Amino acid sequence: MSKTLLIKKKIKQFNKKIKVSGDKSLSIRWVLLASQAIGKSKGYNLLMSEDIVAALEAIKKLGIKVRVHKGYCEIFGNGINGFKYENNLTINAKNSGTLGRLILGLLIKSPKKIKIMGDKSLSKRDFSRVTIPLEKFGAKFYYKIKNKLPLSILGSRSVKGIKYLENKGSAQCKSSVMLAALNASGTTSIKAKKSRNHSELLFKYLKIPTKIKRTKKYDFIEIKQPKKIRAFNYQIPGDISSSAFFIVLTTLANNSKLLIKNVNINPSRTGVITILKKMGAKISLKNKKNYRGEEIADIVIKSSNNLKAINCPSKLNSSAIDEFLIIFLVAAKAKGISYFKDISELNQKESPRLEWGSKILNMMGIKTELTKHSIKIYGQPYLEIKKSIIIKNYLKDHRIFMMSTIAALTCGGQWKIHDKDSINSSFPDFLKIIKKIGNK
Ligand code: S3P
Repeated sequence: MSKTLLIKKKIKQFNKKIKVSGDKSLSIRWVLLASQAIGKSKGYNLLMSEDIVAALEAIKKLGIKVRVHKGYCEIFGNGINGFKYENNLTINAKNSGTLGRLILGLLIKSPKKIKIMGDKSLSKRDFSRVTIPLEKFGAKFYYKIKNKLPLSILGSRSVKGIKYLENKGSAQCKSSVMLAALNASGTTSIKAKKSRNHSELLFKYLKIPTKIKRTKKYDFIEIKQPKKIRAFNYQIPGDISSSAFFIVLTTLANNSKLLIKNVNINPSRTGVITILKKMGAKISLKNKKNYRGEEIADIVIKSSNNLKAINCPSKLNSSAIDEFLIIFLVAAKAKGISYFKDISELNQKESPRLEWGSKILNMMGIKTELTKHSIKIYGQPYLEIKKSIIIKNYLKDHRIFMMSTIAALTCGGQWKIHDKDSINSSFPDFLKIIKKIGNK
């Protein structure tokens, strides 16, 4: 199979119904929490992408039995801090920042050194954002290159709750400390800038003693060490971040309609819907329901030929953090100049996404003004690309690949997009679904 995707034609008008794979954040959290429960937990519709397979491999190396079946997965937890493993253990978090950072929280009591490594992209990302708070619990970290993987962690015997201020709006940092709190006697208090709250909802559902007070900008979370976590079954809903590519595909296509079934619409994740609606996209939510605190709905999208620029309020940044690349594409086709600010965190992702987003738009003939923390996009509603565009050397960032594919299918031109296998980290079915939508 060629590793390069060639696209020479725009997608034709469509009216389709699809289902996207399970949510990545919830899948990783389910794997890690089930590993701390006592007995057999079953996860349905688990995302079977490379990030999650890496999570399953990691807990297996830590002595947890895992069985993968068609449609579901079983994890046989050994209880909190119940990992059993040999000396000189290495865990490979591959491309997953969420796995690499969250699992450290579960290892703060590990009596033997454990090495954590990752792929080229993950090895460029900052780990001090989690090791600094985890050091406060008494864990020790050893880096070869400052703040970068590979690192080794050595836990502490006695761990007490800490006070922690999470000021980046990072759910990975918050969740890493929340998982560490399972091992800490007494209370761990976290003041966290708003970010996705899946860990909090799971803690509540599992009856882990957790108090949450919400203010406009911060959440105050208090966790008391639980005696144990019961095994639990969980049905993972569809991923809004994967859905976002199809929301934009439909928005920018000609006279088309799409229904996406059973997607997680947790308000801490739906910034993309709010932003695109403000820009004139036609998106509605049907069959809303609540599953263990998580909101779920079917999403209906219709094409829109009247998109307008946005001055995006920064308060929406955290709930759209993984969707900015694809939102930039809508800004490229909107009337007027869009402005996105305070988004330097985008350069901390699988690739420096703010830079890459701007670079791809420039290749498409769109003018941008870029700073370290903002971008202005000069939209061209009648943009028709005529030239060839090659996308490569982007650290195999799955979302760069998917954004480029949607750009090719909606804006024209001849595109050659390298490293097709990048989609395997979050959304192996992406191209299959594109085919299904494109087939008559
Ligand atoms: C995630 C949090 C976000 C997001 C990532 C998944 C999570 O990262 O970008 O894809 O599951 O907690 P940050 O917490 O670094 O913003």
